[in-house]
Amino acid sequence: MKPDPADLLGLCRRRGYIWPSFEMYGGVAGMFDYGPLGITMRNNIVEAWRLLYRGREGFIEIDSETVTPREVLKASGHVDQFSDYITYCGSCDSPFRADHLVSGYCENPDVLSPAELEESFRANGVKCPECGGELGPVEDFNLMFKTTIGPGSSRPGFLRPETAQGIFVNYPNLYRYGREKMPLGVIQTGRGYRNEIAPRQGMIRMREFNMMEVELFVDPEDKTWPRFHEVADEEITLVPQDGREVTVTVAQAVERGIIINEVLAYFVYATKELLEFVGIDPARIRFRQHLKDEMAHYAMDCWDAEALLSYGWTEVTGVADRGCWDLSRHMEFSGQDLTHFKPFDEPVEMDVEKVRAKHKALGPAFKGGAKAIAEAIEALDPSAAKGGTVRVAVDGEEIELGGEYFEIVRVREKVSGKRVVPHVIEPSYGLDRIFYSVLEHAYDKDPEDGYTVLRLKPSVAPVKVGVFPLMDKDGLGDFATELDEMVREYGVESYYDASGTIGRRYARMDEIGTPWCVTVDYESLEDGTVTVRDRDTKEQKRLAAEDVPEIIDLLVCGELSFADL
Ligand code: ATP
Ligand code: GLY
Repeated sequence: MKPDPADLLGLCRRRGYIWPSFEMYGGVAGMFDYGPLGITMRNNIVEAWRLLYRGREGFIEIDSETVTPREVLKASGHVDQFSDYITYCGSCDSPFRADHLVSGYCENPDVLSPAELEESFRANGVKCPECGGELGPVEDFNLMFKTTIGPGSSRPGFLRPETAQGIFVNYPNLYRYGREKMPLGVIQTGRGYRNEIAPRQGMIRMREFNMMEVELFVDPEDKTWPRFHEVADEEITLVPQDGREVTVTVAQAVERGIIINEVLAYFVYATKELLEFVGIDPARIRFRQHLKDEMAHYAMDCWDAEALLSYGWTEVTGVADRGCWDLSRHMEFSGQDLTHFKPFDEPVEMDVEKVRAKHKALGPAFKGGAKAIAEAIEALDPSAAKGGTVRVAVDGEEIELGGEYFEIVRVREKVSGKRVVPHVIEPSYGLDRIFYSVLEHAYDKDPEDGYTVLRLKPSVAPVKVGVFPLMDKDGLGDFATELDEMVREYGVESYYDASGTIGRRYARMDEIGTPWCVTVDYESLEDGTVTVRDRDTKEQKRLAAEDVPEIIDLLVCGELSFADL
């Protein structure tokens, strides 16, 4: 059932899922806080993601800083290219995202240039949505929040727009930790910050949001995946660049060149599995390929997982092949060697490029230091000299040298392997959008009484069981309190409720998505049994109270079904 987003956000606010941030000071657009139910459910989604990537795939996890020095984001391309187009109203000065203003007039407004957007305003008579005034010129607006690190302005920085860069700048540490082998999978969850021009659609466009990112470093000459055969025959719905939706097996998607390689296809499918596992309706998920002009500056290919929401098809995850963009750029900007050594089966004779020092020029210029500088130059990989200069560190001092001090020569050598720049496959999950999609797809009305029911999967539901005494007297309350404690000590999230009629208490639990409720009654005092009620079937069963914690736990992880009790 499709909810009105205002109803759903109202429920979230009332019941402690989500609260608008800084509400007592009037709130800030695009900012939300997670309440007790919200953070619990969000953590459950993160755990499902960890189970997939750390559990099944064996990836490693890190947690890096969010404040990032400018040079990192200069190297990554975000300083120059991470922007949206903005236009201001000439009369009331309101800012707008230019592509959003023409979304009703063209199919893919985010591929239009500023001149094309301005032309579209003219052709379609687009005016300021606030006051009807004329719109001004379309300009670039960088989405990063700027800051300075330490006092003064000497070290500019930004709040990170993606968690990914924290993984790339740790690549030397990660490569060592992973015993210098490919593939190397690394995950990170945390905040991303984007100063969105016009946050709207609730949690879909936030200024501070939560990401779950995966950076998989692979050998660029081997984009296969060892578990590919496990998903090869599974079906998936894809919307490639030509816009024609197809349902094919994962193997067909690769054979027909719809998805460019096996490893990308594998993680597109893994994303589908994860989204379904946490409760996004399989009939309302599709994968859409980015158009060439829509692709981020770093991407070779990108597939968006989109969920059908009351706002329309909405990107919840991007699965991209970032090629060698990130590591090449960080090599270039930091001067560090981020290549992977691939040994040959046997050493082979071949022509190789080497950096040679020009001793005749170094001697007069650096006198006694020339020898050490020459050695440092000759230890460099030729890729470090491609820009026409090299940087070497000698006795703790970094020296930049022009082409007069070195040359690149070709020599015949026996070599035991070669160096390649790893490519990156990146499934980037927008946690808040997934969270919201799960709530929308779980939203339902009870067919009999019209009350709202969130049909959340038990594994993501924040509360697994409501515990009620029929009445709070004659020892029923003590019995139920003890049972509630037993359930919590078992590690199962419960909610104790002794107020109102049992019907009202069921309704309150249904509204927050609690899959089961347990009621303690007079029979419980006699024989130690309680009533367990199932949210979706409303069926009730009588069970021994002492078995309840374990049974709920087994029901949550799917090892037991309510029908079999
Ligand atoms: P959009 O085109 O909707 O702005 P994007 O293509 O910029 O999204 P990515 O850069 O691919 O998004 O970010 C990875 C994921 O992070 C997205 O799939 C999305 O789920 C999430 N995300 C991006 N921007 C926001 C935001 N402002 N608020 C909440 N989630 C976001
Ligand atoms: N790391 C993917 C993105 O933020 O776009």
